Amino acid sequence: DDHYYDFYVTEKNITNPCASKNFALVVERVPGQTIHVHRGDTAFINVHNNGTYGITIHWHGVKQPRNPWSDGPAYVTQCPIKPGKNFTYEVLFSEEEGTLWWHAHSGWSRATVHGAIAVLPHKDTPFPFDPQPYKEHVIVLGEWFSGNMTEFFDTEEKRHTRTSLSDAYTINGLFNCTADEGYRLVVESGRTYLLRIVGASMDHEMFFAVADHNLTVVGQDGSYVKPITTTYIMITPGQTFDILLTADQLPSCYYMAVGPYNDGGNHAQRNSSIATAILQYKSTSCPPIIPFPNQLPKVADTVSAKNFTDQIKSRDSVNLPEKPDDKIFIAVAVSHQLICGKVHASLNNISFVHPKIDILQAYHRSLPNIYETDFPHQPASTTLNFTGDDSLKFEFPILGTKILMIEYNRSVEIVFQGTNLGAENHPMHLHGYSFYVVATGDGNFNETEYKNNLNLIDPPYLNTVGVPRNGWVAIRFVANNPGVWFMHCHLERHAMWGMDTAFIVTNGITENQSIREPPNGLPECSSSYNTTTS
Ligand code: C2O
Ligand code: CU
Repeated sequence: DDHYYDFYVTEKNITNPCASKNFALVVERVPGQTIHVHRGDTAFINVHNNGTYGITIHWHGVKQPRNPWSDGPAYVTQCPIKPGKNFTYEVLFSEEEGTLWWHAHSGWSRATVHGAIAVLPHKDTPFPFDPQPYKEHVIVLGEWFSGNMTEFFDTEEKRHTRTSLSDAYTINGLFNCTADEGYRLVVESGRTYLLRIVGASMDHEMFFAVADHNLTVVGQDGSYVKPITTTYIMITPGQTFDILLTADQLPSCYYMAVGPYNDGGNHAQRNSSIATAILQYKSTSCPPIIPFPNQLPKVADTVSAKNFTDQIKSRDSVNLPEKPDDKIFIAVAVSHQLICGKVHASLNNISFVHPKIDILQAYHRSLPNIYETDFPHQPASTTLNFTGDDSLKFEFPILGTKILMIEYNRSVEIVFQGTNLGAENHPMHLHGYSFYVVATGDGNFNETEYKNNLNLIDPPYLNTVGVPRNGWVAIRFVANNPGVWFMHCHLERHAMWGMDTAFIVTNGITENQSIREPPNGLPECSSSYNTTTS
């Protein structure tokens, strides 16, 4: 089926129990509305820009087969929609099922411009898990900034010199100063609910838990997993989870909470507080609220973070081939040196620079000098001591719009190598695809460990994976979706600082292996006004 939405992006006052402030870009409210579709549907979303900054919207985790035109990252697949203009995205839902999300993909604007996407199974098909949920609820985990957001949107200059330090976490846009404020989820005793959890924070990995209640994870990133029962989850920016919660405790009120996870890098979190919301059993009153004993791990609890992440396996077996066609090795680093007064982050020592015209259009129309295709397949060597002194080789990255060409239908393996440059894990996100996370390990990449850890049977199928700061992750995908696809760290400040690249997957032979024709009304590229990205 087809669905039609109108999104009106405006700047308005946002209020919270503890605070209120102007000039955050929003689509009606924070979070914005949930898009509800069935697998295989198409959504036409007309985005009207009634604000004063250029904006684009991305449908995070929606593969958009052959349709990069509606993918959204600014200056990668389109130029921003200018103030007073609109653009209709055609969002194609193919194989994904579960929770995904949408967010602005220009400047800092995704801090307030985001919402959930619920992809139900095909019509008249039950969920492939039991029990069938009585109801579903969206829980968006975000951040609140008391600083002046318009400053964040301002100039390229500022984005490279400041970090987006938030002042609180939010649950469905709210944070609380006193116990009974904030988001409240009312449940009926004995019922099972599907919680659609979205990791919409800008710059922090997070733990989430509900006092005294187990969480059963049934899906991640729009794909089903073998159900696991846990007392908490760890979620990185960009990830989404489908979770069953049964109201099987004494009828009362219980805290749910979100707090930061940081693997112990020496950058202290400025915002290390937790935000709470309330799970309230119908016909009880709060307070009293059952507090939070031990479920929510502490900020530097890497063991708990790993224990959770390591349990996730695809529901179905996939049996991947022993060897991929192409192997790519990418070192991930955040530089501590200023280059021309700016902070930079890099992939294989390249710090990405947004072009003035989007790469997709430049590719489609063969425009010269917009991007270069020499993104390196590996850093100078794969045997460097990335977690030791050799990481210093990445202190002064090369600046450029360098992208990687991938031939249609190749099976690709990427090893992301974390370094000790940078103080946390990097949630790497690929547009246009989900990928199998086939192996991960600590320290420098090592063939023996890789072989021992390799899971080609039921690896998780994600669109965003946490690359350990001093460790590595290997992912696989078959390049069967032609287009221009952004690939970047989903910590917003790292993406801003250049921890990005794009893949151009070439067309196959037949028409239905090729990028679709561009739609009408694509936003024009021009630098005659102040856009939100460079
Ligand atoms: Cu969630 Cu490139 O984005
Ligand atoms: Cu990062």
